[in-house]
Amino acid sequence: MSTFWSIWISVIVLGTIFGCWWLLWATRKSQTTDTETTKTTGHSYDGIEEYDNPLPKWWFYLYMGTCIFALVYLALYPGLGNWQGLLGWSQHGQWEEEVKEADARYSEIYAQYGNTPIEELVADPAAMAMGQRLFANNCSVCHGSAGRGSIGFPNLTDDDWLWGGDPETVFTTIKNGRHGNMPAKGTMPGMTAEQVDQVVNYVLSFSNRARDEAAAEAGAQVFQQACVACHGVDGTGNQALGAPDLTNNVWLYGSDYEWIEETVLYGRQNEMPAQGGRLSDDQIHILTAYVLSLSSN
Ligand code: HEC
Ligand code: HEC
Repeated sequence: MSTFWSIWISVIVLGTIFGCWWLLWATRKSQTTDTETTKTTGHSYDGIEEYDNPLPKWWFYLYMGTCIFALVYLALYPGLGNWQGLLGWSQHGQWEEEVKEADARYSEIYAQYGNTPIEELVADPAAMAMGQRLFANNCSVCHGSAGRGSIGFPNLTDDDWLWGGDPETVFTTIKNGRHGNMPAKGTMPGMTAEQVDQVVNYVLSFSNRARDEAAAEAGAQVFQQACVACHGVDGTGNQALGAPDLTNNVWLYGSDYEWIEETVLYGRQNEMPAQGGRLSDDQIHILTAYVLSLSSN
């Protein structure tokens, strides 16, 4: 905040408090209890007159007290422009303190779970409740709150894995992230529009959905030339490359002709961001168990 606005705010706040105080002080009256002799304000509204009584004492002092409270508060805490307050309190400082406290409290629990084998964690409801919270905070934006994923974000509740479903691989996936890279094949020189149609039909034929049987048959050869390096001779994929199994009817993208054609033509770039910098190994260990628990029931 610039000095000008700081002074501006301070003057208005202090001016208002002292203004209220002055108004109250200047208009106070000595207490009279004799209502008979009490004067009226002199106004008459349709014959109804108004007493000019002083404020009750308790009310007067209470009001004075709130003015003093406000001044003491503004001296101790930030509130007047750039004034930091005598206590040095800040929202940010309080937040950091709370985070530090929570870290100290939880890191023990995390460490304890971090040393427990995955199979035991999966069977431990308290550990899985913690895994669910970690998942909700760090993963559900992409994978969905139930881990079912959506287009481009893999479903973590099934038994189909792009990169592999054993504990070490899942741990590595979460810690280091993954880059799914399918090159744009259809726009490469050497592949004609007819060949694209043929290979798409061939991929569809794995799940018995070819639009054109003759094209699918011809597509087998295109597939051998352009796709087997990653998706394997039989189309079941390669987990070392994150190349999906095309035969099991589980799809990362859409399953129909147009989606597959688009993948072949333009390729796919997909990223699972590395969590190693944000989460500790113990937390990732718990998350690994949680992810595996999703597909084991
Ligand atoms: C910004 C979005 C995003 C966030 C956040 C994210 N993921 Fe992912 N995740 C992805 C994408 C995209 C992929 C697929 C990568 C690919 O295509 O190879 C993926 C892949 C995975 C895989 C591999 C699945 C397989 O079939 O092999 C696992 C396991 C996984 N994520 C777990 C997690 C966990 C646990 C978290 C939270 C700590 C998390 N992800 C957070 C986007 C995200
Ligand atoms: C260099 C390796 C590589 C080659 C060659 C390759 N792919 Fe892929 N393909 C991948 C990877 C990796 C993915 C996953 C992309 C992602 O994670 O988003 C993929 C994804 C796909 C998908 C989407 C699957 C789904 O579940 O939605 C289809 C369909 C596909 N490829 C078909 C083909 C066809 C047909 C060819 C040959 C013309 C081919 N790919 C060649 C690596 C390859």
